[in-house]
Amino acid sequence: MNNSRVLMTAVGSYLPANIVSNEDLSSFVDTDDVWIRRRTGIAQRHIVAEDETTADLAQHAAKKALTNAGLSGGDIDLIVVATTTPDNTFPSTATKLQHAIGAKRAIAFDVQAVCAGFVYALDIAEAMIQSGRGRRALVVGAESFSKLLDWEDRSTCVLFGDGAGAVVLELAENYNDWGILSSVLHSDGAFRDILYVDGGPSSNSLVGHVRMEGKEVFRHAVEKLAAVMDEALAAAQMDATQIDWLVPHQANIRIIDAMQKKMGMASDRVVRTVEQHANTSAASIPLALAVAVDDGRIKNGDVVAMEAIGGGLVWGAALVRFGKPY
Ligand code: ACO
Repeated sequence: MNNSRVLMTAVGSYLPANIVSNEDLSSFVDTDDVWIRRRTGIAQRHIVAEDETTADLAQHAAKKALTNAGLSGGDIDLIVVATTTPDNTFPSTATKLQHAIGAKRAIAFDVQAVCAGFVYALDIAEAMIQSGRGRRALVVGAESFSKLLDWEDRSTCVLFGDGAGAVVLELAENYNDWGILSSVLHSDGAFRDILYVDGGPSSNSLVGHVRMEGKEVFRHAVEKLAAVMDEALAAAQMDATQIDWLVPHQANIRIIDAMQKKMGMASDRVVRTVEQHANTSAASIPLALAVAVDDGRIKNGDVVAMEAIGGGLVWGAALVRFGKPY
């Protein structure tokens, strides 16, 4: 039997300095603070500066995660960056990050699974570590999602923000109930039309804007996230009472509250950052994780459940006993 476990030993995050409130938005688009708060739970979002890119955000978050793990770039064997807003079509944001942190021997690449990007990247990194490609990985969710928004479309532009979060994964032997306990992913391209960005390199037009049928996405989110969380619990042979913290994708407070109720969890066991960060797509889970680790809520050895859904549709869930037993 394989006794190796992939531990999540540290986390780091970064938010751009510029904060845009709901009131700020209502100065140029037909919306208001009351509507946005009531329908989404969002009060503000951080937005990148003119000269700030996704790779910059990723670099800040990754450096903090490395510091918290007591490691440097040279210790890292693998870098997986989940992003929908890379600096360029190529090279990848991951290779830019690799160079910036001096991770000379790392394999580095990007993963595109929109808001589910972090749970996808986590699963891929775990599988690569378990298959012997290295012992230490950086998994990063980083987005300048504001660049994909149509600032005249009030049904989407109020929902998103920018930021980055990063975790360090490390291989360990003989700690069976630590680290990534289970991970389940799904995709269904039949739902492409309810959430997408128009345009792109092979579509004969420049990258466009986010288009979304909000109600449909909402319906799929509640149904699919509940089902995939059940699968992740079954795969780990656990039940919801054994989860210490739910760290969900931060898209809408109503989706988060629905998940909390479906899982029968106490409200104060759910990490909510959507009010301050809005939906930062692939960055939202590691950002929320970093907030709750930094403020002392998530402690070494706590079981953390994560779940996310994004355009595709793509969705997934992971259970992790956070930290390290040694
Ligand atoms: N301000 C004021 N009014 C607004 C705004 C706004 N920003 N946006 C829409 N409205 C209006 C609409 O025009 C509509 O008006 P009408 O009744 O006169 O036609 C009314 O508000 C209701 O609009 P709905 O779209 O029906 O509102 P709903 O309750 O569905 O909320 C929302 C919309 C918040 C988008 C919700 O559907 C949602 O959160 N969906 C899920 C989105 C999501 O989770 N996305 C995550 C994935 S994103 C990714 O993967 C990249």
